[in-house]
Amino acid sequence: MSLVPLITVFGATGAQGGGLARALLQLAGRPFRVRAVTRRPGCAAAQALAAQGAELCAADLDEPCTLERAMQGAYGAFCVTNSWEHRSPERELRQAEHLAEAARRCGVRHVIWSTLEDTRRFVEPDGRLMPVLRGGCNVPHHDAKGQADQAFIGRGLPLTRLLTSFHFDKLIHFGMQPRRGVDGRLGFVLPMGEAPLPAIAAGDIGACAAALFRQGEAAIGRRVGIAGEHLTGAQIAGALSKALGEPVRHVAMDPADYARLGFEGADELANMFRFKQVFNDDYCALRDVAATRALHPALMRFENFLARHAAQLPIAPRAVA
Ligand SMILES: NC(=O)c1ccc[n+]([C@@H]2O[C@H](COP(=O)([O-])OP(=O)(O)OC[C@H]3O[C@@H](n4cnc5c(N)ncnc54)[C@H](OP(=O)(O)O)[C@@H]3O)[C@@H](O)[C@H]2O)c1
Repeated sequence: MSLVPLITVFGATGAQGGGLARALLQLAGRPFRVRAVTRRPGCAAAQALAAQGAELCAADLDEPCTLERAMQGAYGAFCVTNSWEHRSPERELRQAEHLAEAARRCGVRHVIWSTLEDTRRFVEPDGRLMPVLRGGCNVPHHDAKGQADQAFIGRGLPLTRLLTSFHFDKLIHFGMQPRRGVDGRLGFVLPMGEAPLPAIAAGDIGACAAALFRQGEAAIGRRVGIAGEHLTGAQIAGALSKALGEPVRHVAMDPADYARLGFEGADELANMFRFKQVFNDDYCALRDVAATRALHPALMRFENFLARHAAQLPIAPRAVA
C-alpha cells in the first residue's frame, strides 16, 4: 500500500478538475497520487492523464455507489458538478448530496467543493430584480451550488469552499467571443455596464485547488474566492483589440435584452450578469486577486491568456472589400 496521499479529482476530464489533476501530477516530488474520475475512461482527456501518471476511475455523480468506489482510500477529494450539462438545479443538488455522503462514508480528510454564491441570500427570487427561473431560482447554477454547501457543512466534513470566477476560456468554448455586427465591426457583449467582472483562466482554478490541498489543515473551514483579474467590459474589449489587431468595442446591453437573444441558457446568464452587476462590491470583494496570486504565483492575467489563446477564438474573418 502506498503511503503517498491520494486525491480523488472529479471532473478530471474538464476545465477545473483537469487543471487540478495536471497541477498535482506536476508538483515536484509528487506529494500526492491522483485518481481521475470520469464517466468515459477511454476518452482522450482521460487517457492523457493516465499517461501522466493518474489512476483512472469510472464513476457517475448520478450513481452514488460509484462515488464511494472513487473516494475509497482517498485523503482528499475535489468535488465539482457541471450544471450546464443538464441545467437542472435539483439534479445538481442531488449530485452534491451524493458527493458529500460518499466523502463522509469514506472518511475523506480534506474536501474541496467548487461552489458559487446562492444569490437568493442577496435577493428574494420574487421576479422584481430579475425573472424567476426553474422553480424558484435567480441564477440556477449559482443558487444550487450555494445551497449545496450545506450538504458538506451539515455532515461536518473537513471542507474548503472554493468560489470560482468567470472562466476567460468562455470566450473560446462558450459562444462569448466577440462577434461582427452588420457593419463588420467586432463587438464584445458583456451586460454589466461599467462594473468589473472577476475572471480567471480555467486552468488556474486547478492550480489554486492544488495549493489548497498542499496547505491541508490551514485551508479547512475556509471559503476561498479566486480571480485572475477584475475587468470591465471596456477593459476586456481593449485587451481583445490589442490581441486581435483589430478594434473591438464593448457592447453593454441591458441583461433583459441579453436574455432576449434567446440562445440556450441566455435567460440564466442574463440573471447571472444582473447579479454580478448589482452586487458587484460583494462579489468582487470575495475574489481578491492579490490573495489568489499568493496562492498561485503564476496566475495568468487576461492579456497573458490572450497571448496564448487568441488564435483559438472562433471569430469570423473580416470581409474583403
Ligand atoms: N465557465 C465559467 O465561467 C464558470 C465559472 C464559474 C463556475 N463554473 C462552473 O463550473 C462547472 C463546470 O466545471 P468545468 O468548467 O470544469 O466543466 P467542463 O470543462 O465542462 O467539464 C465537466 C466535467 O464534469 C464531469 N461530469 C459531468 N457530469 C458528470 C457526471 N454525471 N458524473 C461524473 N462526472 C461528470 C465531466 O466528466 P466526463 O464527461 O468525462 O464524465 C467533465 O470532467 C459548472 O457547474 C459551472 O457552473 C463555470
